[in-house]
Amino acid sequence: MIIEPKTRGFICLTAHPTGCEQNVINQIEYVKSKGEINGAKKVLVIGASTGFGLASRITSAFGSGASTIGVFLEKGPSAGRPASPGWYNSAAFEKQATEAGLYAKSINGDAFSNEIKQQTIDMIKEDLGQVDLVIYSLASPVRTNPNTGKRHKSVLKPIGDVFSNKTVDFHTGNVTEVTIQPANEDDIANTVEVMGGEDWEMWIDAMKEAGVLADGCQTFAYSYIGPKLTEPVYRKGTIGAAKDDLEATSFKIAEKLKDINGNAVVSVNKALVTQASSAIPVIPLYISLLYKTMKEKGIHEGCIEQIQRLYADRIYGEDMQLDEKGRIRIDDWEMREDVQAEVDKLWAIATTENLSEIGDLKGYSDDFFNLFGFKVEGVDYDADVNEVVEIPSIS
Ligand code: NAD
Ligand code: NA
Repeated sequence: MIIEPKTRGFICLTAHPTGCEQNVINQIEYVKSKGEINGAKKVLVIGASTGFGLASRITSAFGSGASTIGVFLEKGPSAGRPASPGWYNSAAFEKQATEAGLYAKSINGDAFSNEIKQQTIDMIKEDLGQVDLVIYSLASPVRTNPNTGKRHKSVLKPIGDVFSNKTVDFHTGNVTEVTIQPANEDDIANTVEVMGGEDWEMWIDAMKEAGVLADGCQTFAYSYIGPKLTEPVYRKGTIGAAKDDLEATSFKIAEKLKDINGNAVVSVNKALVTQASSAIPVIPLYISLLYKTMKEKGIHEGCIEQIQRLYADRIYGEDMQLDEKGRIRIDDWEMREDVQAEVDKLWAIATTENLSEIGDLKGYSDDFFNLFGFKVEGVDYDADVNEVVEIPSIS
């Protein structure tokens, strides 16, 4: 079929297999171009199909020659209905890894459940014995807690006060004022349930108990801080409360891994266009101004550049350069004073009329469509493609 983007608000309902495959190939080429990283050889990535998790899987495999198991929740294709992008990404990744002689298997299911954890442990036991790196990169709006059976929904709201600021509809470029009512206690608790650290700890507990964590095993999860501008709706909002919890959990896990010489650390990553971040009000406007500024300064990075640098310079570099709260700061270039000062200046004057000039609206929009395999250079979108693509280890 001919597959075209079909957007509804912040989501795109279709994805292009050839475009997704090309994205994966481009990321692999980037990692290879940066040279070998002396990293882990047996790696589990939880949330491995898109964004930072996919970039982590690619960097482990093609930077360090690692065997990888990827866990994710994606929708497979059926005749006439394309799969979700993470499905096509994972199919392309497995194909490329296998061609390169690398072990790669995937598990498609709910990572929050006991069943998927057990299935993953069984696969590790059978195929790899143990893993020496676990990347935790889930982003989800909902979680069913397997201990209580209760389903929780996260929300993106400020805590305490009503928040009003500018935002942009990146499809139209319309800059408007958005007002968000503050969260109640349940909202906060639910968001922490979904995006906090409990599930990360449950994974590590289950894996340690099963003996599938190798001596010296490290685990990393990803967080975000961002500027003052977005603080009320991000870091000091409900999602920030969940990130506080995630970061606090890293110390609990690190303690539990001491006896196997392991470690658990959070990496604070840069703001990027992903399916998750497009849905957060105010953030798209911030990102479009940030992209413009960082591109002008020659320091713009996407997921793969971020994770390649995270591995090469921090995790497997001389020094993780932890901040005063024990976190890796690979958001260092985003948070640079000159970058933030410029974004502040642009933010103050941003309007519908000037945004395409002072902000990188096109870069935002292109990145958004790229997530779904559209607008990828070199792909012939007029060509007939087979939407039914299998993930080799799953079919
Ligand atoms: P993403 O949406 O691109 O990836 C989410 C991944 O989680 C996908 O692989 C998806 O399949 C998987 N997933 C979701 N629900 C699942 C479930 N129930 N079971 C199994 N898999 C499931 O998100 P992302 O932006 O790469 O985010 C990953 C992490 O990075 C998050 O913790 C996020 O907060 C953090 N982060 C994001 C940004 C940003 O700007 N995007 C910045 C810093 C940190
Ligand atoms: Na991810």
